[in-house]
Amino acid sequence: MNTFLWQESDSQAFIDYGRYFVPQREYQLQTIADLIPQPDGPAHILELSCGEGLLSRFPSVTLHGYDLSPVMLEQAQQRLAHYGQRFVPRQFDLNQTEWRTNQPTFHAVVSSLTIHHLDGPDKLRLFLDVYQMLHPGGVLVIADLVAPTRGLGTAVAAQAWDEAVRQRSRQLDGNDAALTYFEQLKWNLYRYPEDPDVAIDKPSSLLDQLKWVEQAGFTAVDVHWLLAGHVIYSGVKR
Ligand SMILES: C[S@@+](CC[C@H](N)C(=O)[O-])C[C@H]1O[C@@H](n2cnc3c(N)ncnc32)[C@H](O)[C@@H]1O
Repeated sequence: MNTFLWQESDSQAFIDYGRYFVPQREYQLQTIADLIPQPDGPAHILELSCGEGLLSRFPSVTLHGYDLSPVMLEQAQQRLAHYGQRFVPRQFDLNQTEWRTNQPTFHAVVSSLTIHHLDGPDKLRLFLDVYQMLHPGGVLVIADLVAPTRGLGTAVAAQAWDEAVRQRSRQLDGNDAALTYFEQLKWNLYRYPEDPDVAIDKPSSLLDQLKWVEQAGFTAVDVHWLLAGHVIYSGVKR
């Protein structure tokens, strides 16, 4: 397993600018939630790298929020204080395996904007392990960046991402300040690709990821939304 470095300065930047930098942020979060079937009774949902806990739209389930960052977990605990015992935070490292079990425990496992830090083999390993952690009928829902398969696809994704941030910046603040910061940070990895030898972002093509989800045993594998290189897909455990 490889590791990737996430600093608390990244956490703060994401807390401050996620609403500008993530295309159709609210729509994505609601779509992830909408893809989780209504449980029959008490149920447990696991969010891998939960960040600030923005997926907090499950009225009766117990939400297990795992994240590396103490800053993020603290934010999530504050945001989800009304969950009481129904929010279970845990510090974890997605790259490691000690948090993975063979026990079917969860009704759903979801993750937003995280697994692109894992390389291809580690993504497949994650899907295989998550399969074991789900009850039959449970769902895996992933929202993340994908790797376009050719140069023109990368150019289209880069352009669309800049445009999404421009629109959001103007919508929220009436100016281009957030877009300018997005540009300064070189956040658009389709416009500013990292050196593959030291890259912390390792998006895989959408088709590869769907194949790995299927290879892990999931059925009804499907794509629900795609914009600017960001996608939402899911699979169901038999
Ligand atoms: C881009 S943020 C996304 C947060 C959240 N999923 C969302 O969509 O709002 C990436 C998250 O991954 C977490 N993270 C970074 N490295 C990690 C690691 N090695 N293991 C687990 N989580 C990690 C960060 O703390 C952060 O909360």
